[in-house]
Amino acid sequence: MSSLKGQNVVVIGGTSGIGLAAAIMAHAEGASVWAVSRSEDKVAQCQSDNPDIQFGQLDIHDTAGLSALFAEVGEIDHIVANATGANRTNAPFMEQTDEQFRAAFEKFWGYTNVARQGIPHVKQTGSLTFVSGFPARKCNVGMSSISCTGCAVEGLTRALALEVAPIRVNVVAPGIIDTATFAALGDNREHVLEQIGQGIPLGRVGQSDEVAGSILHAMRNTYMSGATLDVGGGNLLP
Ligand SMILES: NC(=O)c1ccc[n+]([C@@H]2O[C@H](COP(=O)([O-])OP(=O)(O)OC[C@H]3O[C@@H](n4cnc5c(N)ncnc54)[C@H](OP(=O)(O)O)[C@@H]3O)[C@@H](O)[C@H]2O)c1
Repeated sequence: MSSLKGQNVVVIGGTSGIGLAAAIMAHAEGASVWAVSRSEDKVAQCQSDNPDIQFGQLDIHDTAGLSALFAEVGEIDHIVANATGANRTNAPFMEQTDEQFRAAFEKFWGYTNVARQGIPHVKQTGSLTFVSGFPARKCNVGMSSISCTGCAVEGLTRALALEVAPIRVNVVAPGIIDTATFAALGDNREHVLEQIGQGIPLGRVGQSDEVAGSILHAMRNTYMSGATLDVGGGNLLP
């Protein structure tokens, strides 16, 4: 296992939830960390809360912006592609328009941007970690577009792991994690997440830190590549 001390880590989608937790954890382990997302407010708040991490405003679909960020960092040890990066429609496939279904794949195109722009800057000892999700392998009704996008991310992980070795490429697949993803639930959030948790073998939903720990493991484990790390409290069990 390598240490993150003195290493350069870039998190795309690093101002909230899982990505922010990974940025803070990597910094706590001694890495220099750059973390970006679209929202000016989130960037400003994160910068004020974590002055030693370099936050910036950037959309994962801004190819020129990604290229400039990676060039600015210079030699990169680890990149994390975590941005949600898409509007997803939760509805059965036959009830979605083509436009709605295809929109979910914007996350995948964002990840291909990160790979294409970022890999040339990653050291041969470094890594790229994608964040996908459990629906790739446990698709409930209404999750077809998210599931297919997740499968694409997992496929890209394995393909790149072969093609860019010895740079390591892995994917972390969260289960249900209590993040801003559920902000729309408003006052019902705690109740709904508790109900969901009861259907999970570990009896609860997860926390951002629990996924971030696996993202850091993917950075540090020098013999792991092409792997999918499930962090879902056992939610993929039959
Ligand atoms: N929470 C779950 O239950 C769960 C389950 C399965 C998979 N996941 C996956 O885990 C990852 C992290 O999600 P989260 O739950 O931590 O959500 P979150 O708290 O909403 O964080 C998402 C992060 O991505 C950024 N982002 C979104 N679109 C972006 C774009 N186009 N360009 C750059 N940054 C962008 C957001 O900031 P801005 O809004 O400022 O851009 C934010 O920093 C996502 O890929 C999500 O699909 C989450």
